[in-house]
Amino acid sequence: MEKDINANMPSSSDGLNRVDGRLKVTGAAKYSAEYSVEGLTYGVLVGSTITKGTIKAIDTKAAEAAPGVLAVVTHLNAPKVPGFQPAPGKPASPKGPLKVLNTDKVLYNGQPIALVIADTFECALFAASLVKVRYDVGKHVTSLPDNMNKGFAPRGEGVYKRGTADAWQSAPFKVEQEYIVPTDTHNPMELHSIIAKWDADDKLTVWDKTQGVMDTREEIAKLFKIPAENIQVNSKFVGGAFGSALRVWPHEIAAVIGAKMVKKPVKLVLSRADMFTSVGHRPYTWQKVGLGATADGKLTGISHEATGQTSEYENFTEGTVRVSQGLYACPNIYTKYNLVSLNIGTPTWMRGPGEATGAFALESALDELSYALKIDPIELRLRNYAETDPESGKPYSSKFLNEAYQLGASHIGWSERKQQPGSVKKDGWFVGYGVGGGMFGAYRDGATVKATMMADGSLVLQTAASDIGPGTGTAMVMIAAEQMGIPADKVRFEIGESSLPQAPTQGGSATTASVGSAVHYACIDLKEKFQKLIGNGGTDKLDYAQVLKQHNLPSLEVTTKADGGTGRDKYAMNSWSVHFVKVLVNTATGVVKIDKVASVADSGRIISPKTARSQVVGGAIGGIGMALMEEAVIDHRYGRYVNNNFADYHVPVNADIPQIDALFVNKPDPIINPMGAKGMAEIALIGMAAAVANAVYNASGKRVRELPLTPDKVM
Ligand code: MOS
Repeated sequence: MEKDINANMPSSSDGLNRVDGRLKVTGAAKYSAEYSVEGLTYGVLVGSTITKGTIKAIDTKAAEAAPGVLAVVTHLNAPKVPGFQPAPGKPASPKGPLKVLNTDKVLYNGQPIALVIADTFECALFAASLVKVRYDVGKHVTSLPDNMNKGFAPRGEGVYKRGTADAWQSAPFKVEQEYIVPTDTHNPMELHSIIAKWDADDKLTVWDKTQGVMDTREEIAKLFKIPAENIQVNSKFVGGAFGSALRVWPHEIAAVIGAKMVKKPVKLVLSRADMFTSVGHRPYTWQKVGLGATADGKLTGISHEATGQTSEYENFTEGTVRVSQGLYACPNIYTKYNLVSLNIGTPTWMRGPGEATGAFALESALDELSYALKIDPIELRLRNYAETDPESGKPYSSKFLNEAYQLGASHIGWSERKQQPGSVKKDGWFVGYGVGGGMFGAYRDGATVKATMMADGSLVLQTAASDIGPGTGTAMVMIAAEQMGIPADKVRFEIGESSLPQAPTQGGSATTASVGSAVHYACIDLKEKFQKLIGNGGTDKLDYAQVLKQHNLPSLEVTTKADGGTGRDKYAMNSWSVHFVKVLVNTATGVVKIDKVASVADSGRIISPKTARSQVVGGAIGGIGMALMEEAVIDHRYGRYVNNNFADYHVPVNADIPQIDALFVNKPDPIINPMGAKGMAEIALIGMAAAVANAVYNASGKRVRELPLTPDKVM
């Protein structure tokens, strides 16, 4: 497998091992719940057992009298939170925001309605079981399919048109189908957790699981109406997140409220069950796609409608229909995006966010069209290849998707594929091949990095970034080592504290482009500072320790701010992926086995080959989970998740995952940033679910349009 990867790597870069790998596997990496703070107390949330209604009475006497209990915080006694407001960037919902522990209204099952604080976790957990609540029970709605008639356009009219909206309908070849992506949950291995400690009436420190310490600081500052500078947010290690830690959630607000009330630091760790209700999910989404094409496979029109679920108190939106606007060259496009408010916790971005949902529908429909046209699915994609951005007409900053098609096709053995479904059988299994691709914007934000050369010749980089697992630290160390001409083990990358120089939240596959640019320019600035120090006699290759010693300096530092880059007005910037899957299908039992995967990324220059490979493999596995097993199920009679645990919510395990070839076009983007690197996290998943479903159809002739492809749907 390694050989496959390295074949597409520059020969000089076998890649650095993950710089924080040893810390993580030995337990030395400290996660937010692991900090010991003097006087620490423990909080356990009590969640509502109804799905909509009003709290009539809440009896906390027994809980308060239980051993070790310091307080039971409810809407009746909680300190008021002055700044409840919609999440940043989100349109307000009439019933929002959710006034955590400041309201008697219940808007979803499991909504925190009390926080028990005790001197041990066990005491808090026991006392939480003693809180008695009486409700006025309202009529809840939790099913999207049953409430499609309540759809509304969350932003503007929610409709996008290019050319003739219904052009696809008059095409000689057409496909129109509906697709369902159910609720999926991020469920990172590390549970969401926070330690909240008030240092003064208006001064706060939190150790928090978050993808962005600066954004968390801003949100808490607004909520509690204290200056952001008075808040320190620490999040040095994050054990996975996939989008679930992109914003501040109710449990974080509850812990800060609780710490204020008991005047002691409070630690709050969600249970695995809470992870299903309290930290977002990939929203259940209904889609309808219409495609029209000429006999030679030129798309004449695309129509893509999507309706996603949201909560009653916030309107969460994502780019579900965006792939249909930009993935293929097509003159006539119609897209429509709606939301339905349900009694659930607010969804959030989950790896690949809306594009992953949208690509399942579009790439499945395109596969259906390929059979109607009797044209190979890769050939069909090439016939509709967009050479410039179909929406803006702008040139791409870089696009090598056609090379990605070739690379993946040769690795999966695409030439073995038969166009006729059900025509290949081996050892009792039908064999099939499928393809699915995706795109995601290649973004870049401003970031600031402080670079300090120490007396011993080691370099320390500091920025308030986050590394939730993609290998950011490793990539940053490699950028700096290359730029400074020093070994990687001489570079230290310090992140995860809001007191460090500003960095954006880790999200949208943008960190390497954003923070990497700042690292790159900080190193150049630092080299220049050294050159100035030694005057004209400088050479390219400096012995930094020697120079510092000669000049009697303990260290030399720069702080460099990089902006979001230029060119976005002239170019369209995207990363692309294509996934190839070979499956074995048993039509008697409905079992699908993934036999082989080749996932290809066009994400610019690959900076850190090993962690890039892990990114692509992880994304492919996430996509296989989405395709075959992941589904959070609500019993709509009660509005409650019935599989809120890892026994019943299935994710792929080793036995489900075959050889995965992670392949890279590995050509630098000349525009987006000085490294030529584009994002990778999202595209590693986008398109995979369609590739699996398309392979199942090719193997068995069974077209499944509702995820996941569980045996009952395949048999
Ligand atoms: Mo990502 S879904 O922006 O963490």
